[in-house]
Amino acid sequence: MDDSVTSAPKPLSRIVLGLTGGIAAYKAAELTRLFVKADIAVDVVMTPSACRFITPITLQALSGRPVLTDLWASGADNGMGHIDLSRGADAIVVAPASADFLAKLAHGHADDLLSTLALARDCALFVAPAMNRQMWSNAANQRNVARLAADGVVILGPGSGDQACGETGVGRMLEPEEIFAAIVASAQPKVLAGRRVLLTAGPTFEAIDPVRGITNSSSGKMGYALAQAAAEAGATVTLVSGPTALPAPAGVVRIDVQSAAEMAKAVDAHLAGADVFVAVAAVADYTPTAVSTKKIKKHDAPMTLTLEPTVDILASVATRPDAPYCVGFAAESHDVERHAEEKRRRKKLPLIVANRAQDALGSDHNEVTLFDDAGAHPLPRLTKLTLARRLVAEIARRLPPRTR
Ligand code: CTP
Repeated sequence: MDDSVTSAPKPLSRIVLGLTGGIAAYKAAELTRLFVKADIAVDVVMTPSACRFITPITLQALSGRPVLTDLWASGADNGMGHIDLSRGADAIVVAPASADFLAKLAHGHADDLLSTLALARDCALFVAPAMNRQMWSNAANQRNVARLAADGVVILGPGSGDQACGETGVGRMLEPEEIFAAIVASAQPKVLAGRRVLLTAGPTFEAIDPVRGITNSSSGKMGYALAQAAAEAGATVTLVSGPTALPAPAGVVRIDVQSAAEMAKAVDAHLAGADVFVAVAAVADYTPTAVSTKKIKKHDAPMTLTLEPTVDILASVATRPDAPYCVGFAAESHDVERHAEEKRRRKKLPLIVANRAQDALGSDHNEVTLFDDAGAHPLPRLTKLTLARRLVAEIARRLPPRTR
């Protein structure tokens, strides 16, 4: 193990997932699946009302663990099951959280297993409210929610949209993916709190005529994962993105661009105040000298496209006198180390992340080596999001103290 790279942050290992009565209880099945898929053990606790909407058997099958519903039969042989279950858990997540359950929590009631666990906890508590829009906006409910937030309970949502009752408004439970992402994000160390991070991601598209262009097979996944990881770490994140099919990560401001020239302009416009610039985009090195305004017609003769070099966005940022901390990516097909280190020196970068292009493009995994003034630091093959979190930790510990 190379001890000059940070070790992986401690991942979530076990949560208690509480279900209360509401039609959104069916979404807790998917939420359970997401946690289990991420190797997070889930102890499901259901109130009697929740059991009327979805059966404990479903949650038991998905979590692979016993589902608890009764304060008086909560599994521990010391009679302290109402306390034991949350001991050692990383968080209690109540989804869906009914108006009635929020009221109980706000007033410290403990008359069933879930409310007792919530009261006797020593871990974070998240609630994902789910109720009719009028229940949500009712003054008593709003008082309870404000009380809970002031007590340090994290309120996730609710979202707005069509409701099971046929009405439309605020009160829908967030989608399982959103709840899952918020909980995983909250567990990340806030190593970039107060920092501004600007990133580029995805391919660029250099138009030839109104319907054709030159691009590459970058999916944008690595850059988007880094933007997400930086936001999770507490940074204010702006992502300048070429055309991709990916949604913007939560809390990230995305600026959409097409060409290398547009990307350069957007970076320039958002650079002020940035502490870190990470260039992940696969920027076209050449662009057609002229774009035909009309669709180019086919002829029998060979055709030549004249291309001119684009601006090297990363090099132009890194060589500014007030440059932020600049991180480059080097996707190489061969001689990875030699080319990456040469690129790092040529572009005057404190840090470059190198990989084999053919292994990473489009994949959900990546295996990289970091190069800095101290040499090469290989990281293991990881999912792009796990790798992104490691890279954020690496960048954070190399960042100079803030001067502006
Ligand atoms: N980069 C950039 N602007 C460009 C070209 C590259 O900002 N016009 C950035 C990339 O985002 C990446 C780094 O420079 O962080 C290296 O990109 P890469 O394509 O690997 O290297 P190039 O400098 O283009 O050199 P080559 O294509 O010859 O390998």
